[in-house]
Amino acid sequence: MNIRNITERVFYVGVNDRSSAKFENLWPLPFGVSYNSYLVKGSEKIALIDAVEESFVRRLLSNVGEIVENCKIDYLVVNHMEPDHSGGISTLLDLFPNIKIVGNKVTLGMLKGFYNISEEHCIEIKENDVISLGEVSLKFFITPLVHWPETMMTYVEEERILFSGDAFGCFGALNGGIVDNEMEVDWYFPEMYRYYSNIVGRFGKPVQLALKKLENIKIDYICSTHGPVWKDRIKEVKDLYNRMSLYEGEEGVTIVYGSMYGNTEELADIIASRLCERGIRNIKIHNVSKSDMSYIISDAFRYKGLIVGSPTYNGHIFPAIGEFLTSMEVREIKNKVIATFGSFTWASAACKMMNECMARLKMAPVASMDMKQAPSKSDYEAAKEIADKVADALKN
Ligand code: FEO
Repeated sequence: MNIRNITERVFYVGVNDRSSAKFENLWPLPFGVSYNSYLVKGSEKIALIDAVEESFVRRLLSNVGEIVENCKIDYLVVNHMEPDHSGGISTLLDLFPNIKIVGNKVTLGMLKGFYNISEEHCIEIKENDVISLGEVSLKFFITPLVHWPETMMTYVEEERILFSGDAFGCFGALNGGIVDNEMEVDWYFPEMYRYYSNIVGRFGKPVQLALKKLENIKIDYICSTHGPVWKDRIKEVKDLYNRMSLYEGEEGVTIVYGSMYGNTEELADIIASRLCERGIRNIKIHNVSKSDMSYIISDAFRYKGLIVGSPTYNGHIFPAIGEFLTSMEVREIKNKVIATFGSFTWASAACKMMNECMARLKMAPVASMDMKQAPSKSDYEAAKEIADKVADALKN
């Protein structure tokens, strides 16, 4: 049981998942994840806002049953169709066939495709449509691609509550508290950077459009589908989303390198040390063979400087660095201060390939070096020069 009043008419009825190792079978969940679901209780009708992942339906129903006799819900609003929220819909409909599912045109198509739910079970809404529940009402904003094409947000004007879907969500289960002012929430912020960059990161422009729609709406609570309900920290989470979706990096440098026998790694350490001498304080170093890609992507998104190093491997880029660069291309990462360092034993390829990738991303490295075999004195100097040029560019 995990129920909490947020306001007099709005209840948290979501669940925690501390068992899944990875979100989307890709992204580690060291602190678990919550699938947030909310109940809005009007004087005439009751709406459930988003469901939960399929295997947690029983817990969801148990929570709902604490508030509503026989789980008698009138509407299920689907702000987002990804199965971490929609997986439970089929079971809910099997048990309660009179529930009307509320979604937009794209949602309805997905409901058919994923769960073979026909339109007679659904209510299609459009931008700014309102459904009254009696004393409270649900207003809908279509906000596509904040994460999937059907994503939308639901606003309860009378309570000044925004149900934002994935937007403003983060990894990390809810450990007792639900609203940010009833628990220590600082540790969720790194998990929000990771959630944004891993899951939503490709969709900077749609996120910007969504943020613009929210500009003139009075919001006391943001209820997203993952992580805490935001009340006291709303400005902070909105600023974070604004910064990340504009690809505005924070002061700092991420160094991502691959290294088979430590020679390329040595350059990474020299670069980091010089960056520190030059006054850079946030320096994150990732050995791509060891750090999970999820955390590398998160830091690469978060900080303004990005330095990538790769040995040449089979006449190509080091495989895991190739994977990282593909992740950056998929997310159309931009506006970084970039530098690259490569190495080779008999024929150079990695450095050129990294720079070609940066060109595709429309970013020109401020410095690049290529090292033959092990570092020489001149390589040490070249590595320091990389750090100097990155530091200079970050300070300008
Ligand atoms: Fe929480 Fe895009 O799913």
